[in-house]
Amino acid sequence: MELFKEIKLNLDKQLTRPEKYALKTLNSYFNLQNFNVTENGKEITVKVRAIDFQKYSLISNTVEVECGLENDNILKTIYAEIEKIGSYGIKSGKRLYVNYNNERKVKNRKEKVGRRGKYFYASNNGFIQENNLLPIQFENQIICGDSLVELQKLPDNCIDLVFTSPPYNFGLEYEDGDDNHNWDVYFKKLFCILDECIRVLKYGGRLIINVQPLFSDYIPSHHLISQHCIKRKLIWKGEVLWEKNNYNCKYTAWGSWKSPSSPYLKYTWEFIEIFCKGELKKTGEKDNIDISADEFKEWVVAKWSIAPEKKMKKYNHPAMFPESLVERALKLFSYKDDIVLDPFNGAGTTTAVASKFGRRFLGIDTSEQYCKTAKERLE
Ligand SMILES: C[S@@+](CC[C@H](N)C(=O)[O-])C[C@H]1O[C@@H](n2cnc3c(N)ncnc32)[C@H](O)[C@@H]1O
Repeated sequence: MELFKEIKLNLDKQLTRPEKYALKTLNSYFNLQNFNVTENGKEITVKVRAIDFQKYSLISNTVEVECGLENDNILKTIYAEIEKIGSYGIKSGKRLYVNYNNERKVKNRKEKVGRRGKYFYASNNGFIQENNLLPIQFENQIICGDSLVELQKLPDNCIDLVFTSPPYNFGLEYEDGDDNHNWDVYFKKLFCILDECIRVLKYGGRLIINVQPLFSDYIPSHHLISQHCIKRKLIWKGEVLWEKNNYNCKYTAWGSWKSPSSPYLKYTWEFIEIFCKGELKKTGEKDNIDISADEFKEWVVAKWSIAPEKKMKKYNHPAMFPESLVERALKLFSYKDDIVLDPFNGAGTTTAVASKFGRRFLGIDTSEQYCKTAKERLE
């Protein structure tokens, strides 16, 4: 069993005294079984097993200052070398550099997958593979209208990615909408709009839906919506847990206080369900990829800690998602110049972020006031 990942650095010049002292100081901050550095005048050996990389970065900076190192120094080199290690596991906030996938080894994995078959529920989908151009009059537009009506004006297979969050049906006070229908009426309409979204998605396009279930009504909207998408033969790519860390969430009743009869469960997170039409891979130009290595590494871990939107008062909308949520979804799942649709665009977070990151966009909402805000956010 490997104990450490080792990095060897040849020294072409002797370390300065402050640098030698800095290495000792750096060691003193760590359990040596997780991280240690040694030097013998010719080379430096860095042994790394498990570290919280963010803390490591802070410590390394502190030691640099403490030891009065020059700008270009050995701690910076060591930091850069550790950062280059692309494969590691993550456990309790630490990067594990060795033995992190032992328990996951399955013998002949590929062959077994081949025999079992992948996403069986999406076979015989009948999707046409030929994609179409979005007519120019819909490009970079905010349209005020009912998505069920407006989407019917688009051709099949012309949108790269849908990112949206449907009206919740929580009884929220939207500007001109009724957010309090019977659940069957609500889902019937929502599913019709989702069917239109699926129709206009390109083959290989993605449908990404942010859902907050109404736990107090025992309505698992995220499951019902996913079930519908699966019934329509989309491939379930995965689910992101959006951790909002809002421990003072409005819903504070206990149900049956201190009794198993019917306690309420409380949630500080929402779900992001991700589906693909026809295939998991999305083609695009290499030059149109805009996600950095660090962003990629952090965001493929499917729990995103992002605070709820703070500007809802400013934009006068009761249920917005934050810009950074959209940024992650767009950079992770689309290319620059792709066409992004939000059929429940609200105050225009999706369209503002799409525009900021060089995607083309189309946003639809029934409210004139929200559409006006969405347009203003593009300026
Ligand atoms: C949860 S909000 C979306 C907020 C948006 N993500 C933002 O950050 O501003 C849902 C939006 O759907 C809109 N809406 C409801 N029914 C609609 C329909 N049939 N067609 C288009 N928009 C609709 C509501 O006006 C509301 O703004």
